[in-house]
Amino acid sequence: MLFEIVAFCASILLVIYAFNKYSRKKCTAPGPPHGLPILGNLLQVFDKQVFLKLCDWQKEFGDVYKLNLFTEEVVVVNGDAIYDVLVTSGDDYGGRVQAARNKIYSNGFRSIGFRHPDKEWKTMRRIAQKGLKQYGEGVANIERISMEEIRECLDKFDKTEPFDPYDAINDMVIGIIIIVSMGVKLGADDPLHQKIKRAEKLFPLAFGVDLSYLDVVPWLRNLPNKATKVFNDAIEAAREMESEIFQRSMSNVEKSKIDGVFDAINSNNEYLDKSFIKGMTNDITIAGTMTTTAQIKSMIALTVDYPKVQQKLQDEIETVLGQRLPTYEDRRSMPYMEAFILESMRYMSEAAVAIPHETLKDVTMRGYFIPKGTQIWPNLYGLHHDERFFPDPYAFKPERFLDSKGEVIPADERKYLMPFGAGKRVCIGEQLARIRMFLFMTTLLQRYTLCPEREGCPPNYDSRKSVLGIVMQMHPYKIKTVKR
Ligand code: HEM
Repeated sequence: MLFEIVAFCASILLVIYAFNKYSRKKCTAPGPPHGLPILGNLLQVFDKQVFLKLCDWQKEFGDVYKLNLFTEEVVVVNGDAIYDVLVTSGDDYGGRVQAARNKIYSNGFRSIGFRHPDKEWKTMRRIAQKGLKQYGEGVANIERISMEEIRECLDKFDKTEPFDPYDAINDMVIGIIIIVSMGVKLGADDPLHQKIKRAEKLFPLAFGVDLSYLDVVPWLRNLPNKATKVFNDAIEAAREMESEIFQRSMSNVEKSKIDGVFDAINSNNEYLDKSFIKGMTNDITIAGTMTTTAQIKSMIALTVDYPKVQQKLQDEIETVLGQRLPTYEDRRSMPYMEAFILESMRYMSEAAVAIPHETLKDVTMRGYFIPKGTQIWPNLYGLHHDERFFPDPYAFKPERFLDSKGEVIPADERKYLMPFGAGKRVCIGEQLARIRMFLFMTTLLQRYTLCPEREGCPPNYDSRKSVLGIVMQMHPYKIKTVKR
């Protein structure tokens, strides 16, 4: 029986491969040799540090090159060509990959992050952004919510023994997103908080390169084995989380208690049915927690690895705030903290290839033809570690974002720093993430000095050793805190 199934799958793959090879238009960009039949370059990409390989290939083949993955061509875009893809020609490159796993996970592309730009996508983006209230008067609300959760989190840092800060950060970030989204405060032991944690943990596993065969033959997820179980568990965890958030926030709407993003989304749903609303709850909850947690974790490691940087940050906090708690407005008088956050985001480049895009029509990029429907990977890690734009790229230097007067260099002079992407698909939670990162790091270093777990054993964070699974993850580490 097993033989029949394998033979059947192999023949389907062959048919799809032959169809793509002989019937589809081809991209004319150069790239590494095709690799194995059918699999193409898949085994070379099947690597947790694939982002380094993408940089090596850029040196060999230039800013625009192609890979063959299974039955598809993927174009990797590097250097300032990324700006063209995301901004200048954003309309042509603004699609999302219509792969089977994306479709299943997002319940038929009912999601901001996975959907092609159409009327529904526009509406979802508009109401999610309106609901997040990240600008103007909404900032004070996010500040109030964040500071309460940050204080609780920092109480957990008051320890004499070394500890791994990950769980405390993650609980704080989830706590904030729950209040911002649902208008209620839940403890870390609430079943919904636990469901979010589970969905967040399984999400990157479902999109690993090792499961990419499901994009070609999706029904293989019905065959019982360890790998497909991970995928199915991730789907089940996502559906459970979405349903519970939906039910709980609907009861708020019925009570006319409109004070969270999801209340606003639910009461605003014009022509979007509830499956879209559930998709948006997933967008905001998963994207809103996984990314910020990973970024704060690496910022803490960097302050321990670079004690002189930590000292400068604390001096600035002392001068500007003293014992007063920060507000987001204080960032304007704290250029070193701002530069530290920018440099941490560059150094980490957690969304190493953004969320892959797809061409919406036949295009020409740097003289190469790229057919409609081709996957595009904007190599943000490569851009942020490209000598042409960031000299000595593997050195951690907040000063690179300061001018001769010690002020942060203006946004238009740092257009090659794009940790949140840019253009029409730019991250919708950028402002929320920036507020949380600034308030957290400032309050943390105001309260504590961070030290290695043992003398001479700092985390030694090197972004080249990170592991890529949706977002970049550094290794676990422990720190010690000394109260100031
Ligand atoms: C440090 C934190 C964060 C980083 C580094 C980050 C980074 C990114 C990047 C690189 C993209 C893809 C841009 C592209 O494909 O061109 C993106 C998209 C997105 N992000 Fe974020 N993000 C962060 C936090 C958040 C938060 C807090 C939320 C929600 C509350 C969020 C929600 C989204 C959504 C929904 C999209 C999809 C947008 C679309 O496809 O139209 N992100 N983010």
